[in-house]
Amino acid sequence: MTLPAHNDASTLEAEVLAIAQRRDMLSFAHHVLRSLASSLSPGRYHHTLEVVVLADRIALLHFSDQPQTGRDAFAAALLHDIAKELSSEEHLEILRKTDTPRDWLNAPSQVLHSKSGAAKAKADYPELPTEVIDAIAYHTTGHPGMDNAARTLFCADYLSGGEWAGMEARISENPDKICLEKVKTVICKLVDREKEIEADTFQFYRSLIGI
Ligand SMILES: [Fe+2]
Ligand SMILES: [Fe+2]
Repeated sequence: MTLPAHNDASTLEAEVLAIAQRRDMLSFAHHVLRSLASSLSPGRYHHTLEVVVLADRIALLHFSDQPQTGRDAFAAALLHDIAKELSSEEHLEILRKTDTPRDWLNAPSQVLHSKSGAAKAKADYPELPTEVIDAIAYHTTGHPGMDNAARTLFCADYLSGGEWAGMEARISENPDKICLEKVKTVICKLVDREKEIEADTFQFYRSLIGI
């Protein structure tokens, strides 16, 4: 199934609803879209729609024999940046209520929004499978144990914002090849800025290169 010809917000929104109908998740999608449209900036909302459409096509292309992977990737893509625009205090407030044994005070904001986003998605939509919550939690750092839905989101989030004209070719690439490209980019950026590399990111890199 090809991508829509254009990636403007109204085209993508219609496409997201068509995907939701195909995946039998229409009322969930309506609820999440209403909530995101009123809480995210237009740019972040547009990015979310694009990630959902890319994740759907990656799942169809590479995991078509796994319908649950497609459904999990759809839900995780819709919710993956739910906490992206919260303040540091709000991230910490959400994470304080979880039982994750870690001091989050010094964690980079990229990491924080994926962990607080996972916690918020779990609180707001308790019916979601653990796989969806994990995919959100690892969408920035990666993790060697990520399943195909989480890898699908990891790739779609990385590809979003790229040239739409060349996107068909990109999503047809092996998802683990795209995961490796993203992990290398993340690690290089962190090294360049002399920032800490999350253990999950390093372990994911090792697993992707077969160490
Ligand atoms: Fe994100
Ligand atoms: Fe994102």
